[in-house]
Order: sequence, then C-alpha cells, then structure tokens
Amino acid sequence: MNPIKVGLLGIGTVGSGTFNVLKRNQEEIRRRAGRGIEIAVVADLNTERARELTGGTVDVVSDAHDVVTRPDIDIVVELIGGYGIARELVLKAIEHGKHVVTANKALLAVHGNEIFEAARKKGVIVAFEAAVAGGIPIIKALREGLTANRIQWIAGIINGTTNFILSEMRDKGLDFDTVLKEAQQLGYAEADPTFDIEGIDAAHKVTLMSAIAFGMPVQFDRAHVEGITRLAAIDIKYAEELGYRIKLLGITRRREDGVELRVHPTLVPASRLIANVEGAMNAVLVQGDAVGATLYYGKGAGAEPTASAVIADLVDVTRLHTADPNHRVPHLAFQPDELSSVPVLPIDEVTSSYYLRMRVADQTGVLAEITRILAEAGISIDAMLQKESREGEPQTDIIILTHLTREKHVNAAIRSIEGLQTVLSPVTRLRMEELN
Ligand code: HSE
Repeated sequence: MNPIKVGLLGIGTVGSGTFNVLKRNQEEIRRRAGRGIEIAVVADLNTERARELTGGTVDVVSDAHDVVTRPDIDIVVELIGGYGIARELVLKAIEHGKHVVTANKALLAVHGNEIFEAARKKGVIVAFEAAVAGGIPIIKALREGLTANRIQWIAGIINGTTNFILSEMRDKGLDFDTVLKEAQQLGYAEADPTFDIEGIDAAHKVTLMSAIAFGMPVQFDRAHVEGITRLAAIDIKYAEELGYRIKLLGITRRREDGVELRVHPTLVPASRLIANVEGAMNAVLVQGDAVGATLYYGKGAGAEPTASAVIADLVDVTRLHTADPNHRVPHLAFQPDELSSVPVLPIDEVTSSYYLRMRVADQTGVLAEITRILAEAGISIDAMLQKESREGEPQTDIIILTHLTREKHVNAAIRSIEGLQTVLSPVTRLRMEELN
C-alpha cells in the first residue's frame, strides 16, 4: 500500500523532532500503522532552514495554504501555534477533507467546539495528543484507556516552565523574578513567558482534559486562571514546614451541581507522588470510580517527546483512515450528540482547603479573634503555625491551614480578618488539595 502523505505546517522545534523521529523509526512505525507515513511537503516561512532540516527530501513551500489544499495530502500536521492563522488553516484543511493532527492547545481550548463540529460534518479526524502534557499519552488514556470509568477529578502539573520555576524557588529559596530570569537564560522559559507564568497554558490543557473527562464542550472562557507571578518564596517555605509543596495545578472536578475548572498554585501534601514531580517534568493524576487513582508522568515539552505524541496521532489516523466516521473515537470522547451542558462552576463555589498567612501584632487575644471569625464562618482549622516574633519586633506571621470549605466563605472570613486592627498585612490565601 502507498504511504499516507502528510503536510507539515511549521518546522520549528516540534516539527523538526517529528521529521527526525518519523525518519529514524519509519520501519517500525510502518509495521505498527499498517502503512508508511511520509512527510511530502513542509510549509515554513523560513524555507532555507526548512530545506536544510529536511535535507532536500521533501517539497518546501512558504505558504501553508498551498499545503492544506494539495490533493495528494491526506493528513495536515499543524505546528504553527496560536489562534490566528492556525485556525484559518485547520478549518481550510478540514474543508478540503484532510485529517488534522495538532499540538495547538490554545487553538482547541478556545475554538475547539467550532473545529470539532467542522471535522465531524466533513468526516475527518482532528487529533491532539501533543496538545496536552507533551509526550504523555494522557488524551489516549482519558478517551480510551479509562473509558469504563466515571472520572471524578483530574489534577495535573501540565506546565513545565512553571514547575521548573517552583522547584528552583523551593530548592534555592529564591524569589520568583530571579528564578524566571534564570529559566529564561537556560531556555526553559520563553522570552515572553506570559502564557506559562500566568497559568494560561495550563488552563488551555486542563480545559481540554475536562471536556474529555466529563463529556462537555470545551469552555476555556469559564476556567478560573491564576499563575505563579504573585507567589512569595516565604509561602513555599512555610508550606514546606507544614509538610506541603506548592505546585501549579490544573484541576477539574465533577460535582453534583457542575464542574470545577481551575488553575492556581496549590499546596499538596509532600508525601504525594505528584508533589515530588520536579523541574520541567509534567504529571497528571486522574481519579476514576472503577480504577481509582492513576498517575501519568513524563516530559511535557521538547522536540522528540512532543513528536512522540504527534506521531502516535499520525499512526492512529492512518489506522482509522478508512473507518466509518461514526465509528471512530469521538473528538471529545463522548458521542457529539451526547455532550452534556453541565455548568462550569464560578470560583466562589469551588470547594477546597486553604492556606492562610497573615502578619499580626504579637499581643494577647489576636489568635482568639481570628479563630472566632473562622468558626463563625463555619471554617474548621486543620493546622496552625505561629513563628516566634523577632527581638524588638512585636509582630509575627501566623499560618493557618483549613479543612474543606467553599471559597466564598473563606473570602468573607478573610475580609473580616483583614478588618482587625491587629492584623497588619493582607491575608495571603492559597488553595490546598489533599488529592486522596
Ligand atoms: N510551554 C509549555 C510548558 C510547553 O512550559 O510546559 C508547551 O505546552
């Protein structure tokens, strides 16, 4: 059988990784897919570099529109990124009957519903394993491996840049700005790291996982997103003293009244495996009712780890190429007419435990007033840490860990605590998940 023909849009880090791995492992991949997979054309604005990387073995063009309309191309691999031209090209490829493989989480988290609907109408596949957690086959696990389960929640370290920064802050006791500069020098963080450090990249990824886990449309605009830019080194230290690590987690949880969808720095017990995922690595913890907890760990970025996911999709598409569209694995795991309209809950309604840090005057009755406010709000205290005040400085830090409560209740209590004359700083509030 003739090889299946692929058009590659963008030959940057992941594109060249895909080209190299496909070439290196072509024989084994052919044996798995049942057919060879051949990159026939590459589109990149830097045609000279593209020719160099591909060694003159494939057509190189500068205009990606020429690829998505080319009659001999069966699958388009979109590795351009972003919401603009990538959306136009993906929709055009679908319109021309091409299957699409993409690593573009931003595109699918924001425009996924439109893209999946267009693909469904046209009977083509849009595969996106590489969009979430790089080389970890988490989409496959959620959509196929765990299909027997009612998924209860997912919590993931799904951004390597921020995990690297948090690991460095903890190990070296450095503040965020210093570590960010180091991460940029080492090439871990982009020159413009906004999407990573503000939690947006993680929110794109958890949005996709949430849709697949719970059978609902992608709803990135409903996600609550907090990054790590305001995280203080002192909170990482205090958390450590209390037996916790702080991780930027993407969390989605099914509840009776809706779905939680959120990204924020989170205290996790240091004894959990996921709390020990360090550096730029990714990990996703999935709780299913039948299987219990399963943990997926690996490289969430980089040329060949991401290529591994792109090529897995190419093999899947090759295997399914001739299958009847109605009997393929659905884009969002559930059949399109079975998606539910379950609401994503506002952050005020989220249930979590909390870490609260406040600077207080070290005098009689302060603690009693704070605990009274918490008790009146129905918030139960789990643990507490009070630092000794320094000589000649009659003030100190109090750190309180709460049991589970609604976010709106803790916010109301914080407002009352901040109103006390003896509380000398705004209260730092971090969410905490036991993940058990
Ligand atoms: N920028 C991402 C990260 C990798 O730092 O994990 C691509 O999703």
